[in-house]
Amino acid sequence: MKSPIRRWAFEALEFVSGLVPAGPFDTQGGLARDLATLARAYGVDAMTPATFDDLRAARTGYFATPRDYYTSTEAQFSGLHSPEGSVHFGLAWDGRFHADGFLEQAHLVEALVRRTGARHVLEIGSGKGLNGIELARRNPDVSFAGVDITPLHVRIASERGAGLANLRFVECDFHRLTPWKDQSLDLVFDVEAGCYADTPEKLHASFAELRRVLRPGGLFVTFGWCRTNAFGSLDRQAQLAAELVERAWVVHQFPIERSWDRAAGEVGFAAGERRDLREASMPSVVRLYRQARIFYASLASPARPLVRRLMRRSTHNAVSALMLPHTYGLGALEYRMATLTAPRAS
Ligand SMILES: C[S@@+](CC[C@H](N)C(=O)[O-])C[C@H]1O[C@@H](n2cnc3c(N)ncnc32)[C@H](O)[C@@H]1O
Repeated sequence: MKSPIRRWAFEALEFVSGLVPAGPFDTQGGLARDLATLARAYGVDAMTPATFDDLRAARTGYFATPRDYYTSTEAQFSGLHSPEGSVHFGLAWDGRFHADGFLEQAHLVEALVRRTGARHVLEIGSGKGLNGIELARRNPDVSFAGVDITPLHVRIASERGAGLANLRFVECDFHRLTPWKDQSLDLVFDVEAGCYADTPEKLHASFAELRRVLRPGGLFVTFGWCRTNAFGSLDRQAQLAAELVERAWVVHQFPIERSWDRAAGEVGFAAGERRDLREASMPSVVRLYRQARIFYASLASPARPLVRRLMRRSTHNAVSALMLPHTYGLGALEYRMATLTAPRAS
């Protein structure tokens, strides 16, 4: 972000959103209030995933594919979320948001790269390249690559990483890693992209492909969401909050944690480390929640026509920002780091 005016606007929004109250996120009442805000904003009796799909009313904007969603919201991500190019939530260990928390996932991956002595590393769903660039810069003897299905992201990542000889970005669907030979990688990781393997068939295909490209004993590391094992027994509104997050991000459905484990086991992966990162991601999640509250307050003000015009293609990210902390607080979604090890003998 070069323009001082954009930088000033970004910092002013940071300051103002810091003043917005947030929570509670662990009560039905807190969720009911935010669901009512959504229903009012989009002119429906009750907000549901179908609200996104009414093309005639075009209430929230509509994206048919993840590629369309990420292409069309790129300016939103760089203007409101991270000018540095993160398309994921940051992690913080002291309960406060810090912009350098966006690099924490890369640093956790780095610890595994160093511990295992990995030389060939791939990120699936590499976005605008933030993780790969950080890793390649700090580990010049390791070769890194990133694949992404959104051409705009691949172009931005390639431009940002142009000075690094040990890094490249390729446009590719991670379900078919055709540029990579069998057993050619030591470590593959994903930060908030694996959830696009969003049906049982796609999840199986992605695990089978990861197993093919990883050397025996190679590591897969993921940071992202699944529905908790308790999801089926939760209150309907808590489930709805998770479904709205899924629909907003153009994800068919996050896997239930135990079905993700089972699918990995079926192709021969051994489960490794597992860390619940909800608390660590909460400051970054709540920061966007506060921005969404400002957005919905402005929609209820005389500024509504202007705001609608500015956001005419999409308010998907405002919906997910309002719902995500409730899904953590009410136990519907988990955000975790998990590692899997490829079998030693194939
Ligand atoms: C939430 S963003 C995360 C980007 C990046 N990992 C980061 O940490 O900033 C998800 C990314 O996954 C990409 N993606 C979605 N489905 C994909 C697929 N089937 N193959 C490759 N990339 C995909 C999107 O284009 C997007 O860049």
